[in-house]
This record gives sequence, C-alpha cells and structure tokens, in this order.
Amino acid sequence: MPNPSARSLTGLWCTAALLLGGPCSAAAAAHRSAVFDANCSMCHQLGAVGVPGQFPRLAGRVGKIASTAAGRSYLEHVVLYGMMGTITVDGTAIVGGVMPSFASLSNKDLAAALNYVASLDAAGKLHWKGPVFKPAAIARVRAGKPLSPRQVHRLRTATLGKGKR
Ligand code: HEC
Repeated sequence: MPNPSARSLTGLWCTAALLLGGPCSAAAAAHRSAVFDANCSMCHQLGAVGVPGQFPRLAGRVGKIASTAAGRSYLEHVVLYGMMGTITVDGTAIVGGVMPSFASLSNKDLAAALNYVASLDAAGKLHWKGPVFKPAAIARVRAGKPLSPRQVHRLRTATLGKGKR
C-alpha cells in the first residue's frame, strides 16, 4: 500500500479478512459494497476516499459527475475500459496513474459499484441514492466501440474539462 495510514491498514485487514471468508468490522467503513470492497477499495480505499496524488477520491465526486447523461456515459467507459493520463483531483495531479479495465465484471456488478460510489459523500458515508446506473446502460456501452485507456482520458477531458474536480 502506498500510504501507510490507519485507513489503508484497515483496508488491508479487511481485504485479508474477506479473503479468508471472515467478517470485516472496520470502524472506518460506514457503508459497504461487496463489489466495490472486493475490486476497487485496494486502490480507491474503503469508502472511496482515495489517496491524494495516487488514487482519486470517488466519494462526493462521482455522484456529481453522474448528474448528467454525458457524465454517466464517461463513468461507464472508465470502469469498462480503464483510463490512462494525468488528471487533477482535489488540487493534486495524479501523474502516471492507471485505472485498470473491469470489463471482466458483469454489467450488474459494474452498475452496483458505480451506484455505490455515486451514493457516497466526501467522507465516504452514505449520502444519497442515484442517479441510478442500470446494467442495461452498461451493456449498451459494452456493445459499442471499445476505447483505449488514453481515449477514455480524452473522453474525460471532453466531458468534464481540464479543471479541478
Ligand atoms: C489498481 C488500482 C485501481 C483499481 C483496482 C481501481 N481503480 Fe479506479 N482509478 C485508479 C486510478 C489510478 C485512476 C485515475 C486514472 C488516471 O489518472 O488516468 C482511477 C480512476 C477512476 C475513476 C475516474 C475518476 C475521475 O475523477 O474521473 C472512476 C470512476 C474509478 N476509477 C472507479 C473505479 C471502480 C468502480 C473500481 C472497481 C470496479 C476501480 N476504480 C478500481 C486506480 C484504480
């Protein structure tokens, strides 16, 4: 783990506990998602609070990006095809960060992960539900033209602009 904070130690502990099939009673995790915790939290951290300069905070940000149809489409492309290219989040550039493709997950699981992060406030606590990502919408993006991780980065710039988010 790049950041030896109490939170990432908690994340490591939870990952180990979940792998062993045991319970994970992390005080830090206010609201849980099986798909996110298993596939995304090792980078984005429990509660999707991120690591500045390395892994973008999704909590409190994705819900805003998802408030437009173009924003939702961008987010669906990110989880399906990954992303590569510098982005600036919380005033800090993430240089050389690579978001892997999660095309191996089902449309249902991808929708669940996106709905989870869209529902979180900046502190990683449950804030609101929706706008809702539907498995059918993920399926439509999957059936369309695949993008490279760099093309997804260009889609981000076209959708959100270069400004801080
Ligand atoms: C191996 C580490 C890693 C894993 C695992 C990972 N991500 Fe990411 N994610 C990143 C990085 C790094 C970026 C920023 C990429 C860049 O700078 O181009 C990112 C970017 C994103 C973004 C775009 C944020 C923005 O500001 O535009 C979303 C949404 C996202 N990830 C969601 C997820 C979800 C959902 C999962 C689990 C299904 C996941 N990530 C798993 C590393 C990861």
